[in-house]
This record gives sequence, structure tokens and C-alpha cells, in this order.
Amino acid sequence: MNPYPLLRRLSHEHYTPGPQLAEALGVSRASVSLALKSASELGVQVLVQKSRGYRLAQPLSWLDETRVAQALGERARYFDLHCFDEIDSTNSALLAKIADGAPSGLCYAAERQTRGRGRRGRSWQGELGDSLMFSLLWRFNLGVADLSGLSLVVGLAVARALHGLGLKDAALKWPNDIIAPSGKLGGILIELAGDALGPSAVVIGIGLNVRLSDAQRTALDQPAESLAALGYVGERNALLATILAELAELLPRFEQQGFTAFIADWQACHALQNRPARLLLPNGTSVDGLVRGVAANGALQLEGPDGMQEWHSGEVSLRACSQSFHPSAGPEKGQAQGGRRRQ
Ligand code: BTN
Repeated sequence: MNPYPLLRRLSHEHYTPGPQLAEALGVSRASVSLALKSASELGVQVLVQKSRGYRLAQPLSWLDETRVAQALGERARYFDLHCFDEIDSTNSALLAKIADGAPSGLCYAAERQTRGRGRRGRSWQGELGDSLMFSLLWRFNLGVADLSGLSLVVGLAVARALHGLGLKDAALKWPNDIIAPSGKLGGILIELAGDALGPSAVVIGIGLNVRLSDAQRTALDQPAESLAALGYVGERNALLATILAELAELLPRFEQQGFTAFIADWQACHALQNRPARLLLPNGTSVDGLVRGVAANGALQLEGPDGMQEWHSGEVSLRACSQSFHPSAGPEKGQAQGGRRRQ
């Protein structure tokens, strides 16, 4: 049996007897026992005492459409939120809805994704209750060519939400990582459907580490950090509502004004602004330089040995660089000379 309805009935404060759970859900006691044993595979620890029943080892709060709508207030009308216990990927599910004519504002959030996807074909994992994972479908009267700065605007919306919640150490790393000084807090995966002239539809997928166990931290292939470590004590429904509220403000503005209107704000949130950085290229080489900002099309402006160059997100990846870089010095051996020059 599906363990989620059972888990939802458990508290971390008191034991719930097995027969009570079985009766409430119309299943046998054996099914309850079996389903709750499988909960450990979901990363949830359930304590069992023969005479008393079952209890959660840690508090677990659930995503809830009504609570998000309440927190959004008047802005709830922009969104049609559905929370799932388990789904393959909120991005994949919404992508499938685009062709059916699903409207702007359709939003899927999930407690767990079985095939969550990150950028560059990576997978994205989140533990039950500890991660915020959601996707938002949005339609634009713009062609896909005009959407190049969109992922940065979405990053800005997340950064503004986190700053508004008091998490001042949250920052952006081009193109759209959400980071803290000690590691990645979350990421954004944007997928597009449409043609060059428009209209277009996008699925905006956002994953944030609200809490991270030591086991999760070590399982990840890059330094990761959680909002809790930055001081976030709130729950995920409030966090989701705060991010959606920012998106409700910024997405229409992006449609009207393009990314140019956001450049200064984005750069103010960029952890590597005016800092030395290294750009890793798909051919294994790298370019060092000073990050000067972002262009109107969302490209990174890096002042390197060949002067100012603009780089598009595609396959390049940006790293902070400890050694300082002087634009006047020549290129180092083994570094690439590619890139697109500024016009
Ligand atoms: C990244 O690699 O940095 C982007 C991660 C994006 C993950 C989110 S979680 C919700 C949505 N559904 C997915 O399958 N991926 C995105």
C-alpha cells in the first residue's frame, strides 16, 4: 500500500496505534506495518513500539494548497497549485500539460520526485519534508528568442524571496544557481516550448534544500547548503508562497520590459560580481577573468586575457577563483581563446 496516507496520520509527538490506522484507511494491520516499514526508503524514520503503535522520529510538515493560497492572499488568483506526494518530475508533468492547453499559473509541487531532473542531464534528489520542489507553467506572448534572460529573472525572484525571509546570505551564481558561501542552496531548470516568433510556454522548475542531513550532504557531488543553516525556521508552504508572489510580480514585468530592466538588481545579487572567476568550457579548457556583469540577453560578461567576452550558459560553468586575475596579463597556457566578443 501507498505509505503517504499513513505518514500523514502520524505525529512525532505521540504514538498512533496500528489498529486505529488500519481502521481509518480501511486496510489490514499487516498492510499498515508493511507500508510503514517501506517509509525508511523515503528517508522517513518511523518509530515502532509494539504496545503503543507508530510515531515519527522527526516532525514532518506537508505541502498544502490551502496554506499556500492563504499565504499568497490576493495573489493566489495567478496560480492553480496542486501538491503531489510523489511524481516522476514536476517539470516533466507540466511539460506534458503544455500541449493540452493548460493555462499560465498551473503549478505542481511534490514531496518526492522519482525522476527529478537538474540541469545538464543531472538528477535532482530531495528528501521528504526537507526539500521544496515545484514547477510553474507560464505562457508568454514572446518568441523563445526573447526569453534568453528569463532564467536569470527567475533566479532573481528566488533571491528576492529568500532575502525577504531574512536569509541575507543567499546569493546567485550565473546563470541560475542559488548559493550560500558554503554551498549550493538550490537550482532552476527552465524548459521551453514554442517557436521563434511566439507565443511560448515555459516550465520553470525550482528545487531548494530547506534542510540537509549529513548523509545527503555527503551523497551530493558538489558542496551543498540548506536554508535552515542560513537561519530559516519557517515551513515550506510559506516559502513556496513567497517565491510565487515574487514570480507573479517579475514574470509579467519581464514580458513587458525584457531582462534589461532587471540587470542592476540581478548583478547586486551575484556572488561573483566583479570577482575573479574561472569559466569551464565543454572541451576541458578554461578561461579566467573578472566577472563584469550580465548582458541584456543574459550572457555572462567576463573580462579575460582577450578583453571583454560574452558567454552563453549552454555548456559552460562558472567557478569562483581564489587567485586574483589582472586583465592586462596575457592568457595562461592551456586556456581557451574562444567565446563571443562583445559587439
Ligand atoms: C539544477 O540542476 O541546478 C536545477 C535543479 C532543478 C530541480 C527542480 S526540482 C522541481 C523541478 N522538477 C524537476 O524535475 N526539476 C526541477
